[in-house]
Amino acid sequence: MMGDHPRLPKMPIQPRLEDFFRHRFVPLVANHLLQSARLAKKAGLHETVVMACLLHDIAMAGLITSDHGYWGAQLIEPYVDEEVSWAVRHHQALRYFPDESVGYSYPEAYIRYFGEDYQPPDYLHQAYEQARRHKWYMTARLITVNDVYAFDPHVVIDIDDFEAVIGRHFRQPKEGLGFDNSPVAHMWRTMIWPHNSL
Ligand SMILES: [Fe+2]
Ligand SMILES: [Fe+2]
Repeated sequence: MMGDHPRLPKMPIQPRLEDFFRHRFVPLVANHLLQSARLAKKAGLHETVVMACLLHDIAMAGLITSDHGYWGAQLIEPYVDEEVSWAVRHHQALRYFPDESVGYSYPEAYIRYFGEDYQPPDYLHQAYEQARRHKWYMTARLITVNDVYAFDPHVVIDIDDFEAVIGRHFRQPKEGLGFDNSPVAHMWRTMIWPHNSL
């Protein structure tokens, strides 16, 4: 049956990014995104980095966990500068590789999740090797730097705090996300109506 699932809050007819944060994203992940963006902002980093942090796990918040950096980059590609989606895509690989120049070590948590001797798959090694030589390497790297410390359940931030940054760095389609006929519109619609089976 078409329409909203009874347990999900109603979305506006022309949904904006903020509506997904408020009404659709898994609250824990939405909060993680907001915290990591806040850290980037507090550190005085460029707004491109703040925006990339705000979006880096967006796929995980609304759609899919596996390869979430790649899915997330695709989801936002029509609406952000290429540097932002590039960084979101590459945080997937970079988080497994330390960079002492910015104080990023291999995350403790990954040893718990994946075990002592975990090796990321080849495609992530290759993505890392390409990314480290890329002009936007540091943008993706700074996502990882502001990522690992961003899991404080006691800090709750409102998406409104980032309204200005979103206004400058996210081109909201006038038809609403999901309804602009972009190549990724169906992905946004799936987040609006995750339970449509017909
Ligand atoms: Fe991530
Ligand atoms: Fe993250």
